[in-house]
Amino acid sequence: MKLGVLKETKPNEKRVAMSPNVAKNLIGKGHTILVESGAGEGSSYSDESYRTAGASVVNTEEIYSGSEVILRINAPSGEEISKVKEGCIWISMLLHKSNPELIQSLAAKKVTAVSMDAIPRISRAQSMDVLSSQANLAGYKAVILGADQMGKIFPLMMTAAGTITPAKVLIYGVGVAGLQAIATAKRLGAVVEATDVRPETKEQAESLGAKFITVEGASVQSEGGYAKEASAEYLQKQKEAVNKSLFQADLVITTAQVPGRKAPVLITEEQVKQMKLGSVIVDMAVEQGGNCELSEMDKIVTKNGVKLVGVSNLPGSLANVASELYAKNMATFLDHLCTAEGFKWEMEEEITQATIITKGGEILNS
Ligand code: NAI
Repeated sequence: MKLGVLKETKPNEKRVAMSPNVAKNLIGKGHTILVESGAGEGSSYSDESYRTAGASVVNTEEIYSGSEVILRINAPSGEEISKVKEGCIWISMLLHKSNPELIQSLAAKKVTAVSMDAIPRISRAQSMDVLSSQANLAGYKAVILGADQMGKIFPLMMTAAGTITPAKVLIYGVGVAGLQAIATAKRLGAVVEATDVRPETKEQAESLGAKFITVEGASVQSEGGYAKEASAEYLQKQKEAVNKSLFQADLVITTAQVPGRKAPVLITEEQVKQMKLGSVIVDMAVEQGGNCELSEMDKIVTKNGVKLVGVSNLPGSLANVASELYAKNMATFLDHLCTAEGFKWEMEEEITQATIITKGGEILNS
């Protein structure tokens, strides 16, 4: 098939949906690849590296006019939708549940819109799962960002001048990002504690060497592996269980999210006031409203002596590897959906059914 790789246009986005390595692999399977000139720049992939892989490097208009399938990281803007040919297949993250207007515009243009973030969380789809591949990198980067803002080091260090005790790290939310944050902080030598509403995460956190903080006497339902919204009672009990660790922590990383909803507020201003001076909170949910009441999007602010790091798009700050993993996820997904001759349209199959959001002017998933 003719696969076109469009440059990202969202501000603060350095990633690209296809790497030269993965392009070579897809070309070997019989696909043709067009890459917009400069698309890989932010990820340190030159136009030349795509050409060497066998792709054609073209201008923006040639991507729109010459592609059967357009590949991207982020959803198209209104202006971009107007340029997509009727019947073209657009594959990117779409967050379709939070973006009904975008989906209506794609349907009105009779674009087949396929959402990478709607891939179900099932074992056979793991190699296509961009939410996991990107959250994993984000969890790593959150620890590095936090470490950079701390006036302390992570490991126990015995020196001639005295002994430095290890840093205490507390992680809220033990999903993909949280698990990687635990692993990274442990590797750097910190003492790590973690909490989550899903009881099954206790064993996962402990297997990476973290102490799990269980919230007794209240539970939260989960659905398809995701947490549902926690009740006010749960959040109160969580505060009672976690506050002691929060007030002693040097670094706090919050990753808690509930799909389709604003992120839960887990750390209030009142709690921040009781934290140690010089401690750091990296709020990974800042784009969804934030897990800490005081964090601000794309800013590092100091409130009551506590530094709050609210950087959005953490995977984008590791664009080289994030793009490579995204492209690998994309290639496995394409293998699943199509051959070099065309799409299979197996509409009853679980992954296909969940990810095709619009087709032939109709909205299939909302
Ligand atoms: P996420 O990004 O939606 O949420 C992060 C974490 O926050 C979750 O662990 C969630 O339980 C937790 N959380 C939500 N509300 C909270 C609160 N009030 N307090 C504390 N923690 C709270 O989750 P992510 O990382 O996308 O993973 C979701 C699920 O999908 C997990 O069960 C994971 O194991 C599963 N999964 C399955 C895959 C597969 O089989 N293909 C691949 C990746 C993940």
